[in-house]
Amino acid sequence: MRKPMMAGNWKMNMTVAEALDLARQINQLVGDTTVVEQLLCPPSVCLHPLKATTTGMPFALGAQNCHWQDSGAFTGEISPPMLRGLADYVIIGHSERRQLFGETDETVNKKTRAALANQLIPVVCVGESLEQNERGETTAIITAQVQAALEGLSADQVQSLVIAYEPIWAIGTGRAATAQTAGEICGLVRSILHDMHGAPVAAATRILYGGSTKPDNIGAIMEQPDIDGALIGGASLEAGSYAEMVKITAEPYSG
Ligand code: 13P
Repeated sequence: MRKPMMAGNWKMNMTVAEALDLARQINQLVGDTTVVEQLLCPPSVCLHPLKATTTGMPFALGAQNCHWQDSGAFTGEISPPMLRGLADYVIIGHSERRQLFGETDETVNKKTRAALANQLIPVVCVGESLEQNERGETTAIITAQVQAALEGLSADQVQSLVIAYEPIWAIGTGRAATAQTAGEICGLVRSILHDMHGAPVAAATRILYGGSTKPDNIGAIMEQPDIDGALIGGASLEAGSYAEMVKITAEPYSG
C-alpha cells in the first residue's frame, strides 16, 4: 500500500554534466524496476536539465529546499511556483538547513504548506542531535518537530507527504542508527500521525529513515514495518551503490 522509496539527496554535489551522467548510469544499472519509487534530489540548477534528460526514465525529481513565498525580494531563494513542473517533491527542514541556515519548526511549517499549495510533495525531515539523544530527549524532540511541521495541515495533505527521520548523529558519520532503533523512531512518527489524524492517515503516510544508509544496511532497515524507504546522502552519489540499494529494496516485492 505504501510504495517504498529510495530518495537520493545529492546535497551540494554534482555539476549539471555530472548530474546527467549519474542519472543515466543509475538508469542503466537499475533497469525498469517499478516497485520502488526512485527520487533524485539534485542541486536546483540541475533540475531543469535533468527533467529534460530523464523523460522516459523511472525517476521522480525533488528540490532540496524552497522558500514559502511565491516571489519577492529574497535574494538567492527559490519559490514553490518556480519548482512546479520541474520537481515532484521538495525536501524541507533537512537538519543541515536547520543547523547551518537557521531554519526553525516555524519556517518548516510555512515551507510545507507552501509546497503543498503548489502541488509539490514535501519530504519533511526531523531528527535529534547527539546531545539530545544522549540526554534521552529523542521522543520529545521528534514529537515536537513532527507536530510543528504538520500544524494546520488537513488529513489529506498529511497522508500525501513524506516524513524522513534523520538523526543528526547518523548523517555523514558512517554511524547509522540500528535498524531496530530506526524502526522504533519511525514507529513513533507513525503514532504521532495517528494521534493527530487517526489510523487511516497513519497507515497511508510514508516514513523514511536517513543517516549513513548504504547497500550493507538497507536490507535490515527496510525490514522494519514502519520504514518505507531511505533518504540517502553519500551513497546516492555513486550510481552503483544507489542502484544496489534500489535492487535490495525491490527484491521482496519482485516475483
Ligand atoms: P548520509 O547518507 O550521507 O549519512 O546523509 C543522509 C542525509 O542527510 C540525507 O538527507
